[in-house]
Amino acid sequence: MAALIQTASSVLRYRGGAGQWAWAIHRAAGLGVLAFLLLHIIDIFLVSFGPALFNDLLFIYKAWPFRILEVALLFGLLYHALNGLRIIVADFIPVVAKRSIARNLFYLQIVITGILFAIGGVVMLTTAQEEPFGNNPILSLVVVVGIVALPLVISLLFSYAPTASTIPLDTDASKGNYQDSIEVIVHGRQRGPMNRAELNIWLFMRISGFLLIFIALFHFFLMHFIYGVDAMDFSFIVARWTDPVLGLFWRAYDLTLLVLALVHGMFGVRYSIEDYFHNRAVKALLLGGAALTEIALILMGAFVIFTFNPA
Ligand code: HEM
Ligand code: HEM
Repeated sequence: MAALIQTASSVLRYRGGAGQWAWAIHRAAGLGVLAFLLLHIIDIFLVSFGPALFNDLLFIYKAWPFRILEVALLFGLLYHALNGLRIIVADFIPVVAKRSIARNLFYLQIVITGILFAIGGVVMLTTAQEEPFGNNPILSLVVVVGIVALPLVISLLFSYAPTASTIPLDTDASKGNYQDSIEVIVHGRQRGPMNRAELNIWLFMRISGFLLIFIALFHFFLMHFIYGVDAMDFSFIVARWTDPVLGLFWRAYDLTLLVLALVHGMFGVRYSIEDYFHNRAVKALLLGGAALTEIALILMGAFVIFTFNPA
């Protein structure tokens, strides 16, 4: 916990400009979407216990605090997807990584994310069946603006706060983010060029990320803007998974999404574990725990897709 607070404060104090915030929001969004996915796999797993339990618990998705979280999920997914695409393009087309082009692309990405999010968020909330958001565009807009404002206000506040520059860089205070980089520079703790396994993970993150732009965003779009959360219940999933024409396709689609998103997200968690935990035993424990959670969730998700029988 102390390490977490120190790391958070070091992110806020460091003045890395747009690049730093692009990275910090990318990480927070990736971890946030992953946290949702972990819960989501468990809730879809409940389908295998029959309609009573599943339908009883659906009120959670339709309650107003969860509606706000779903809109925050849209923001995280959109931001992470577009920022990820920018990273992938810059990695494979070196000219795009040039400072001036990268900076302009970042601002372009912010504008596109903002426009898509504003439209999507307001539609999601105003089309909800219940109060307070249903048919209430003003309140919906307030929530949407609030979600965008949160990272903007935090970054502006800490970029210009006078205290930021007066705090000394005590390298022992936190083991994370820029302080790690400083240690590498000062003490020369360079790990050498990427080994083959690391290179493969690096490539996997990019290939899976690129595919997820289509697969994950389309899933979200379909569930929220074509069907809508209010249409969702046990029979909705039965109809999709057992459809004589498209049933097999949707099961294969969900399985692909499950494996790609979980493995991508869990390799992403590994970056955070490597960055923030330096005790070997703790690191091994966390990495092992993450790997076991990933395997358990893939098995749970695949189990319900393969064995699902509405009878
Ligand atoms: C709040 C927004 C979302 C809603 C309402 C929603 C809804 C659903 C529903 C109804 C299913 C059941 C299968 C089907 O009908 O195809 C499902 C499955 C699935 N969704 Fe979502 N989804 C949402 C967001 C997401 C996101 C953002 C991701 C990925 C990051 C995701 C990943 C999955 C996966 C992997 C499955 C298969 C689960 C399993 O095999 O147990 N969903 N979703
Ligand atoms: C929608 C399309 C997506 C794209 C284009 C994308 C792209 C990327 C890229 C390029 C990275 C950086 C990899 C690196 O530094 O080597 C990354 C990291 C990450 N992604 Fe994704 N991703 C997507 C979806 C997802 C989803 C659905 C999740 C959660 C289930 C997720 C979770 C993460 C996490 C946790 C990280 C690590 C962030 C960090 O610590 O810096 N991503 N993603």
